[in-house]
Amino acid sequence: MIGPDICVFGEVSEEMVSLFYLSIAMMTLWGAEGYLYGNWVSRGITIGRVRRNCADAHHFRLHAETQQQKKQQQKKEKTPQLTPEESKAKLDSLIAEASGYEQEAMSLIGECSTTKEAEALRVAFLGKNGKITGMMKEMRMLGGKEKPLLGEVVNSAKDKVENAITQAAADAIVGELKERIDKESLGRSVAIPSLPNFHYPMGRRHPLSLTLGLTTQIFEEIGYEAIQQPEDSPEIENDFFNFAALGMPDDHPARDMQDTFYIDAKRVNSTDTLLLRTHTSAVQIREMEKRTPPFKIVVPGRVYRKDDVDATHYPVFHQCEILAIDEIGKLTLPHLLGTVKYFLQKMFGPEIDVKYRASYFPFTEPSIEVDVFFKGRWLEVLGCGMVDPVVLEAVGLDPTKYGGFAAGFGIERFAMIMYGIKDLRLFWENRKDFLEQFPSVDLAIAGDDDEEKARDEASIGFDDYPGEIV
Ligand code: DAH
Repeated sequence: MIGPDICVFGEVSEEMVSLFYLSIAMMTLWGAEGYLYGNWVSRGITIGRVRRNCADAHHFRLHAETQQQKKQQQKKEKTPQLTPEESKAKLDSLIAEASGYEQEAMSLIGECSTTKEAEALRVAFLGKNGKITGMMKEMRMLGGKEKPLLGEVVNSAKDKVENAITQAAADAIVGELKERIDKESLGRSVAIPSLPNFHYPMGRRHPLSLTLGLTTQIFEEIGYEAIQQPEDSPEIENDFFNFAALGMPDDHPARDMQDTFYIDAKRVNSTDTLLLRTHTSAVQIREMEKRTPPFKIVVPGRVYRKDDVDATHYPVFHQCEILAIDEIGKLTLPHLLGTVKYFLQKMFGPEIDVKYRASYFPFTEPSIEVDVFFKGRWLEVLGCGMVDPVVLEAVGLDPTKYGGFAAGFGIERFAMIMYGIKDLRLFWENRKDFLEQFPSVDLAIAGDDDEEKARDEASIGFDDYPGEIV
């Protein structure tokens, strides 16, 4: 029976051998419609590398079912059968035990003052092997009448203890948060009138907010309209705006580079394919559908991609997009290159060296990638191009009448270059020592003497960056 395709090693029980024969019989019965190789594994012991046919799946299911039945049988045999009187008496003692655990838990919860303690209590009483949860195991030995009675008592104890622990944890969080805020306060604190005695620390603008604000401002100053409202620039997009209308129909290979997170549309009663947008370019389509040229827009926003986290990738990041559309012939490639250069000079200083490279984006033709020479090396900073006629057609604009250019760039990348940050995970860690190195907040607080100064600090220009940070 054990031929050249099968070798046996490990300890093999009689039961296994019969199962093995059974599987061979099944394989023969099912006929050989194709071969699969795999490890025939039973109870942790590899019996052999078996050349087998489609019967495998069926065989393994059969085996698993038998194992399960056996386990259940063994459990039954282990559980002592109680007489009706014994069962009643056992129920009484179990109910007393459950209420004892409940009291014990409630008194311990009363003394609990940290989230850690609350969690430990949850594990001790409600965890998989917790005192209260464990009582459910006793149910097996009770008679049919007593079982639901015990269930009721145990479930009510569970609910009470669960609620009390949740409440204790919530109280502890407030205390711990206050303590942390006091310890980590970033400087001045602000009293919020509606919350007496609760002082929030005076914050600072996050480096990404500073960079996003600065890029948007540079374009606003030259007549671009900022699109920032969530209803105009939603982070949950549909396939049309994010991909299809931008020259990426289903199965277009360029979609692979922007793998994202899809949303179960049925749960929100939508028939669209919903996803977290992979780029701000989706807003180009939304605005082109709404507007009649000429127009110029700048779109700062948050985008998502299914990337593994490392020093230069994070599944959530920020982009800024520009789009200018006018009558055909009014906006040309030199206009695009001039705009890009103007922007980069504003960001990095008037002396910055800029290099253009031919590239490919499904929504621009021609497409260009732009590099800057910064701190001794060439760095790729943005993508741009002349809007592809297929995009104009997708939104109902006649490409023989209208045309324009677009560009898009990553904000994290700019912030990293400008501030000398080598690991973008720092943006998300909320480390006080990191955040403190950026200009302080521009919160307008009525009557605050520092308001003017704070505003100045927050709107830094290209010649006063704080320099190397890491
Ligand atoms: N959407 C592109 C991306 O996320 C960036 C981009 C490239 C935007 C070229 C543009 C453009 O508007 O013209 O990779």
